[in-house]
Amino acid sequence: MITIALPKGRLGEDAEKVLLATGMIQRPVERDSRRLIFEVGEGVGILLVRAWDVPTYVEMGTADVGICGKDDLMEHGADVLELVDLGFGGCTMAVATVNTLSRHDLFGRGFLRVATKYPNVARRFFDGLSLQTEILKLYGSVELAAVTGLSDCIVDIVSTGATLRENGLHVVERIFDSTARWIVNRRSFYLKYEKIAYWTEKIKKACEERVS
Ligand code: PRP
Repeated sequence: MITIALPKGRLGEDAEKVLLATGMIQRPVERDSRRLIFEVGEGVGILLVRAWDVPTYVEMGTADVGICGKDDLMEHGADVLELVDLGFGGCTMAVATVNTLSRHDLFGRGFLRVATKYPNVARRFFDGLSLQTEILKLYGSVELAAVTGLSDCIVDIVSTGATLRENGLHVVERIFDSTARWIVNRRSFYLKYEKIAYWTEKIKKACEERVS
């Protein structure tokens, strides 16, 4: 049995298409239902979880493999094998602030209040610049913090850039680019090597075909 941790939302839907194309899963997950565990093929099960919980399920071995964004992986710091960059779900982890403040203005301050859903990423980034910060952990609509003055800036993912634009914010620093990753539990990779290596190759090919 191979158990996959699949994220809810857009990333999970794209991931599911890839898994269906490879034949690893034979039927789609019934997203309309409230079920969280699905048998989707012979010897293959899916756990439907929040994107930021995927690394935890895979690191602990409750799921053998999983799909999650590099952003969540960087934040979590999970001890898992990151085997394939799936190429979809592209976004950028960035520092953003109000349009009236330049990068120079912002980073020139002695102390910054930073709002984010990614406190570890934010702390590492600002520590690297030796900037003193107070990190405020938020759970959504992070842009609002910079607009209302709750924080001096935000660290968040930018996809189309529409949320920033529509709220009078702009990117002052790109921290890293993120895409979806195929991750594997270390012990499962060893114990179920043949099956996992087989499906990993198929997934790699399916993603390359999607791009070309
Ligand atoms: C994410 C992210 C930004 C937005 C960026 O939030 O935190 O707010 O998407 O996308 P854009 O560049 O295409 O506008 P999400 O929609 O996941 O929800 P949240 O605000 O509740 O965290």
